Amino acid sequence: MKVAILGFGTVGKGVYKIIKKANGQTQNLSVSHILIRKNKEPILPEMTSEIDKILNDRETEVVVEAIGGIEPAHEYILSALKHGKNVITANKAVIAIYLKEFTEAAEKNNVKFYFEASVGGGIPWIQGLEKALRIDNVNSISGIFNGTSNFILDQMSRNGESFVDVLKKAQKLGYAEADPSADIDGYDVANKLCISADIAYNIDIQNHQSLPIFGIRNITCADVKYFQRRGLAVKLIGRTHQSGDKFDYVVEPTLFLDRTLEANTPDNYNLISLNGDTIGQLDFFGQGAGMYPTANAVIQDILDIAERKIHLKRNFDKKMHYCPELTKGNYLVRSNKKIDSIFKDYQLSQEGAYVEVKKIPVGEMHHLMKEVLKSDAAAFMVSLPSQGEVA
Ligand code: HSE
Repeated sequence: MKVAILGFGTVGKGVYKIIKKANGQTQNLSVSHILIRKNKEPILPEMTSEIDKILNDRETEVVVEAIGGIEPAHEYILSALKHGKNVITANKAVIAIYLKEFTEAAEKNNVKFYFEASVGGGIPWIQGLEKALRIDNVNSISGIFNGTSNFILDQMSRNGESFVDVLKKAQKLGYAEADPSADIDGYDVANKLCISADIAYNIDIQNHQSLPIFGIRNITCADVKYFQRRGLAVKLIGRTHQSGDKFDYVVEPTLFLDRTLEANTPDNYNLISLNGDTIGQLDFFGQGAGMYPTANAVIQDILDIAERKIHLKRNFDKKMHYCPELTKGNYLVRSNKKIDSIFKDYQLSQEGAYVEVKKIPVGEMHHLMKEVLKSDAAAFMVSLPSQGEVA
């Protein structure tokens, strides 16, 4: 089966190398073209800067989109589907917005659009979620969806290294996004949570980036040390659950007791959990970022197409709405300004350098934290491990 790769960054290179290694069932795959930018010198015979050459090549059955970002990735994916090519991508940013459109285009043109590598890197998370949905309602999803931020928090807590130094390491290792602010500010987690919730609830979440998202940009070594002394580890978490026709959705730093799976998820690893009616809690653990784990998941999708394996069909047409009050939580806030008046409607207590805000709806917490950041741009918040109360 002939495969074209759009883009030759971390993911594109990984796919190329695994196919060239020709091990196991990848022996039946070959790379027909690699799309590179017009201003780049081709260094491999497969390289071209002409997208039309790829789209019009009848022998190429699969296009791997590994450009990243929204445009031209969106345009190329749609064109490839319309030209009768199966499309595989790891590009969570474009899928989080256009999953329904891509799925419909694939259906119309009788081809497949698969995207296992977009969430959880090498972990078969989408496959696991889809399998759970064959039997169960998946009522909640939560976990560590971003390898870079996990790597940063892990190294900070293990070695006391600074945020900036560890971020540079993560970039060198190929974990971080081209613009790592998506990793640090929680938007990469938001994309992955959006894709997961769309599939789990069969919905099409709009403007997911405007929902409650708070990253780890402002965390300090002193924060990490304080949490450690209390037997807690901080992780950047994405979380959603559904109830009736409502769902909640949040990305935020969260504290976990030392003995939990989350607290013990190291390096660039991801840990994603779902809760289903009959399966109960199911945890998926593995490398969530990096060239080979991500490329491995892309190739698994290509092999599924070669073997005519059909993934779960979703229309993304169920009507549900996001509810900012569905979950309440307890939070620690660190700010060098007095914040009592901002949180005046909630019970507060002083915890070391932090103010604890009790039983506040998650949406309201994120809204009020924006107020705090207006007068203290370095303020930080973290949600406490006590179970969020479901209203
Ligand atoms: N930058 C992403 C991460 C890559 O660190 O998880 C994998 O999606």
